[in-house]
Amino acid sequence: MRFRTIAAAIAGMLALAACSRSTARYDGPLYLNEDAPIEDRIEDALQRMTMKEKIDILHAQSKFSSKGVPRLGIPELWCTDGPHGIRAEVIWDKWRTAGWTNDSIVAYPALTCLASTWDRDLAALYGKSIGEEARYREKDVLLGPGLNIYRTPLNGRNFEYMGEDPFLAGEMAVPYIRNVQKNGVATCVKHFALNNEETGRMEVDVELSDRALYEIYLPAYKKAVTEGGSWSIMGAYNKFRGQHCCHNKTLLCDILRDEWGFDGAVITDWGGAHSTDEAALNGLDLEFGTGTNGLATNYDGYDNYYLALPYRDKLLSGELPMETLDTKVRNVLRLMMRTSMKTRKPLGSICSDEHYAAAKKIGEDGIVLLKNDASTLPIRLEECSNILVVGENAIKMMTVGGGSSSLKAQHEILPLEGIVERAGDAAKVTFARGYVGDPTGEYDGIVAKQDLAETRGEQELIDDAVALAKEADFTIFIGGLNKGENQDCEGGDRYGIELPYAQDALISALAQATQKLAVVFVSGNAVAMPWVDSVPAIVEAWYMGSEAGHSLASVLFGDACPSGKLPFTFPVRLEDCPAHALDPVFPHMDTARYVDDIYVGYRGYERSGVKPLFAFGHGLSYTTFAYSGVRADKSKVKNGGSVTISADITNTGKVAGAEIVQLYISDLESRLDRPAKELKGFDKVWLEPGQTKTVSITVSVDDLRYFDPEAHAWTVEPGEFEAHIAAASDDIRGSVRFSLQ
Ligand code: BGC
Repeated sequence: MRFRTIAAAIAGMLALAACSRSTARYDGPLYLNEDAPIEDRIEDALQRMTMKEKIDILHAQSKFSSKGVPRLGIPELWCTDGPHGIRAEVIWDKWRTAGWTNDSIVAYPALTCLASTWDRDLAALYGKSIGEEARYREKDVLLGPGLNIYRTPLNGRNFEYMGEDPFLAGEMAVPYIRNVQKNGVATCVKHFALNNEETGRMEVDVELSDRALYEIYLPAYKKAVTEGGSWSIMGAYNKFRGQHCCHNKTLLCDILRDEWGFDGAVITDWGGAHSTDEAALNGLDLEFGTGTNGLATNYDGYDNYYLALPYRDKLLSGELPMETLDTKVRNVLRLMMRTSMKTRKPLGSICSDEHYAAAKKIGEDGIVLLKNDASTLPIRLEECSNILVVGENAIKMMTVGGGSSSLKAQHEILPLEGIVERAGDAAKVTFARGYVGDPTGEYDGIVAKQDLAETRGEQELIDDAVALAKEADFTIFIGGLNKGENQDCEGGDRYGIELPYAQDALISALAQATQKLAVVFVSGNAVAMPWVDSVPAIVEAWYMGSEAGHSLASVLFGDACPSGKLPFTFPVRLEDCPAHALDPVFPHMDTARYVDDIYVGYRGYERSGVKPLFAFGHGLSYTTFAYSGVRADKSKVKNGGSVTISADITNTGKVAGAEIVQLYISDLESRLDRPAKELKGFDKVWLEPGQTKTVSITVSVDDLRYFDPEAHAWTVEPGEFEAHIAAASDDIRGSVRFSLQ
């Protein structure tokens, strides 16, 4: 970091000189003149660099950094995970924590939770907050957000992504990216593309139709790049059509660069490069983690990286074209000029009250009330003086574990702590363990503070919890998954959709003992609920980070009215999920054929007619909303034009709350088979009791297109369309037709 400090000082002085340019002319080198056009600066730097210096900036020098050009005062580039908070410092070339005492941060809710808010302003707040923390920690590239589509509930990394719908994921990614990058920190959207299973992630080869690729798996990335303007992108570990994604010609050269006009840098996932030739020719710019197998061993041969000496040798022998080198260097310099070489950028901030408030608010708004019979929730303290909390996830830190997104949070309010604090003197809160899940709590040397040791057996734990539930005025079960291996964790997938450990038996027993019961899941994936009819209230609370307990308590006790809606479908059985219905094999260690094609998530359930447990877009509130007057501003839409669909939403209940209004479109006349309906717009509206507001959502004709594989082009045909205003994908409140001319 020493070079970096010196370089920053030099650059700062130059910037000062530049700032006072009305009196003094800038006379430093062009590449450091931040007032000059960036492409001119890049060319200037490029022509000053030796071949060795050029090659040096194309690969790692440590676990998370790559070299700058010390001779020219160009600083190192520092990356950090991502995507839920800024990762703790690690030893130079090991994954192990460096043990610093000044690298604790705010852990923000997982991206599934952010997606469940369906709130672009909260995505912007998330990006601003995490971007400020990245900046304060002097990071240049934030490894996130994750934009892989939720194809199966078994994928161990779904919690780092934004659900099953490309429109929702893309809309949420754009404000996140823009607001991170306002800090002079690049986002690195990941994992491009098709990284939908973890078990064989280094080798699995994804085969799918062009239509599925373009309509389902790419749009969120396209939006991230073209609208969000992400300055970097991370190649996925897996293969696509026989070639690893980190140097995949179709993805990186044909689509990312040629079709989308990406001018940022392509970065490998850590250990995702496998060939010098492909890396040289197929659009890779920066290589990290080679020899680490992604997560495991130490390797200090940075010179042996595919884009290090082996690349130099092939360039010198003429086996590889020299222009590939300058292209990569330009891309990396462009990334540096936008980040590490930029001196005029905010200083950032960390662990501020604002950041904690942001984490709490995003958590609250992301919580999804799945079921609430007989208004079981919120808990009314005037009726409950004896509250029982059951379950390991009430007392388990979830910011530690899960893989690369593991964090060193300055604090993490556990669910039980939040509940005890909120109940205050109004109620006695008792805790019962109920089940033993994963009592470990360590990741790369960062240790969770709780002692989760337990000596009682399964039945004894259930019996103890049930006995207490019979006495309690209200019982809150808090379970779900965790960040342990084969749960919500990188590098592996879940073995099944069932709740792990003895949770099903415990929940059934609690439901028999009391109907004053809420089941709360802390998880990032759908789980089966065989006991669903016997439990009155169910809440999906996700992983909420530092403020988890506060966000949860605020919803459970009614300080916040829940408004989150599911960003993916919860199936009754795994076989109902389109990816599994048509292909019983999982995980795929060799070829994964996406036989569900474009029918991913709700698109697939609607096609098969299988009713899900909870549909995409579902989420209840403590109030109720009436929808009326669904209308279109025109009945005939011209090609190139747009149509605005409006509806009047009224809060018909007794408390204020927000409603997420969803717009789906059905193409009624199409040459190619299309999903019954697709999400094309959404808005969130806050309403006081009795208040009515009009929500208007505009859809352009471009949004109505499908990908025609024969023409390799997006196309739309004239004909009838139907717009549906809905409270969930399975809850349409009004429809209106229009025709495309
Ligand atoms: C993960 C990436 C992460 C990288 C660096 C990889 O194992 O797949 O998401 O950013 O490690 O930690």
